[in-house]
Formats: sequence, structure tokens, C-alpha cells
Amino acid sequence: MKGKPVVSPIYMTATYKFDQSDDLIDVVQNQSGYIYSRWDNPSVVEVETALAALEGYERALGFGSGMAAITTAIMSHVKAGDRIVSTREIYGGSFELMDSILPRFGVDVTLVNCSDVDTILAEIDKGLTLLYLESPTNPLLRVVDVPRLAAAAKAKGATVLLDGTFASPVNQHPADWGVDVLIHSGTKYLGGHHDVTAGFVCGNSPFSDRIWELRKHFGGVMDPMSAFLTLRGMQTLELRIARQNDNAMAVARFLDSHPKISTVHYPGLASHPDHAIAEKLLSGFGGMLSFEVAADFDGTKRVMDRLKVIKLATSLGGVTSLANQPMTNTHVSLSPENRDKAGVKENLVRLSVGVEAAKLLIDDLNQALGAIG
Ligand SMILES: Cc1ncc(COP(=O)(O)O)c(C=O)c1O
Repeated sequence: MKGKPVVSPIYMTATYKFDQSDDLIDVVQNQSGYIYSRWDNPSVVEVETALAALEGYERALGFGSGMAAITTAIMSHVKAGDRIVSTREIYGGSFELMDSILPRFGVDVTLVNCSDVDTILAEIDKGLTLLYLESPTNPLLRVVDVPRLAAAAKAKGATVLLDGTFASPVNQHPADWGVDVLIHSGTKYLGGHHDVTAGFVCGNSPFSDRIWELRKHFGGVMDPMSAFLTLRGMQTLELRIARQNDNAMAVARFLDSHPKISTVHYPGLASHPDHAIAEKLLSGFGGMLSFEVAADFDGTKRVMDRLKVIKLATSLGGVTSLANQPMTNTHVSLSPENRDKAGVKENLVRLSVGVEAAKLLIDDLNQALGAIG
């Protein structure tokens, strides 16, 4: 038959057949093909190859979620007695891993506020196995000076991991910053349509080899359907991010001038504490922002309940704008003390700006703010 499909098929297979035993033995010994989809699958490899090229790493590895990517990447690089230095302003699930799960396995974790660069450098100087960073951060959009911290950690022989989910591969390029392992929740900008749960790590050998080994054993691999959906989403990634960068800036400026908003956290605003470093490190300020309503928890909830175009939902990075109160969902597992330390206040709203017309979003926020006096 002439003509080949433009779009690759989805390889819905768990296992692979061989003409002869020697071929099977070669695949098992040399990773020279496919044997079992918990190891590798052609649909997953296709999206992995696309992401690795985009991020400038030798290899990307797909996972069933961002958290599967994060846990597997970290567990591949630490053992009991090792020390991790990280920041307090990380995704709630990552925080719980650092704060309560890893210590149960004898891993020592030191968490520092990301704005306290001197203390982070002092902690790095004491010696560490792994530096774990997230930038821009969730939910206050702090922009961490990753190249500076990565250089200090590498001088101590540590491995540097970065969760770059909020920027997507379009707005920052951590391969240039000394990051050994770059992580994405593919559920967010890469998938981009709120219809897939996925995660990735990007890295060079030997980091990627270690993570591949552990993915095989932990089993958190991406499934072929999610790989297909993520690859499809990635085809419009640049278009979406360009629109989301513009929309978020317009919304941030509107909120910044609104009398019922006390603070806007957006690195594109000159008032943001990391505006200067964001200008240096980011090629776009991103589609995420957060803001504090001039009200208490209940007043903020009333504003949320009035939103119409913007959906009240957790998650981020897709075509539809989503808003939530971090205190009630993404950061619910943190103790009040840890929430305070991470700057998550009761009147904080996180907004993931989608690709709708900016005016629609601004009008929606404006009418919703009418809920408070
Ligand atoms: C910055 C960041 N990293 C990782 C994750 C976890 O990703 P997933 O929900 O795909 O496991 C999230 C989820 O919201 C996130 O916001």
C-alpha cells in the first residue's frame, strides 16, 4: 500500500515477540529493542525522544505522573545516610516526600526558603548528595538562581535535580544551567489539555541509566495512550505558551491595579522580588500567577465560587484557565506552620491562565471580585 500514516499508531502492547531466542537475549542484555512495556514501549519512546531533543538532553524517560518521575529520580540517586538540600517552596507532594517520606528511609533532608540564598549556599557547603530545586515555584512563582546553586552543589560532587514544570521547555532551558536531571509533570503544559496524567525526567548518562533501571523496578512507566496524548499536546506547546505568557501578563497587570487585590505574584511584574533574575533566566514569564484577595478565607472562597469562565479546579498548564486556593488542595497536607513558612496564606489564589481571550478572563475576575464588599 502506498502512503504512510502521518501520525504514529499507539502501540497498545505489553509484550513483544521474537523470531529467535538470540534476539530476545540480545534485547535483555543490551537494551537493543523491546521486550516488555514496563521497560520500554515505542509510543513512549517517541514522546521521550521528542522531549529530549527539545530540552537538549541525551534521553527523556516517561512516567505515569509527575510524582512517579520525581520519586523515581530521587530514589535512583540516594541511599540511607545521604543528605538532600532542597527548598520549602516546592509542590506539596514533593514537599511531603522531602519532609516525611524520605526521612523514614534514613535520608537526611534540609529545607531552606528559596529566597535565603546565603543559607542554601551554607547548607550546600556542609556537603550533600543531591540538590533538589523547583523553579519557578508553586504557588508564589519565586524564580530560583538555579545556575548559581547548581554550580555550588556540583563543586561538592552532588547531583542537581530541577522540577521545571511551571516554565515548560519553552520558557527556560535548564540544560545550560548545570542541571543533571530535569523533571516535568507532563500533566501540565506538555499534555496541555487536562486529559492526561504524565511525568518525565530528562538527563544524560549515567543519570538517565540509573533512573531507567529504577523505573523498570518501581514500575511507574508511562502508558502508550498517555504517550500519544502528550506527544499530540507537545505539537502546540510553543503556540500555547506564547499565548499563555501574554494572557498571564495582561491578567497580572489587571489584578495589580485592582483595589480588592492586595498582592500579585507574577515574575513579569517589576514588583515581584525575583523580577531581575526572571529577566535573566526566563525567555517568557509563564502562564502561572497567584494573588492575594483583600479578604479572609471565606471572602476569598466567595470570589472563587463566582468565577464562571475560569474553572475552580486543581492542576495547571492546560488550555482552560483554572483557579484554586492552594490552602485547600495543593498545599493541604502541610501543617499550618509549614504553610506559613512557604508563604501560603488563607487569601491566596493560584491561577493557571489558559488560552482564552484575555478580556474574557479579566471580565470574569472583575465580576467575581464583586462578591466581596
Ligand atoms: C510543580 C509540580 N511538580 C510536580 C507535580 C506533580 O505532578 P503530577 O500531578 O503529574 O504527579 C505538580 C502537580 O501539581 C506540580 O505542580
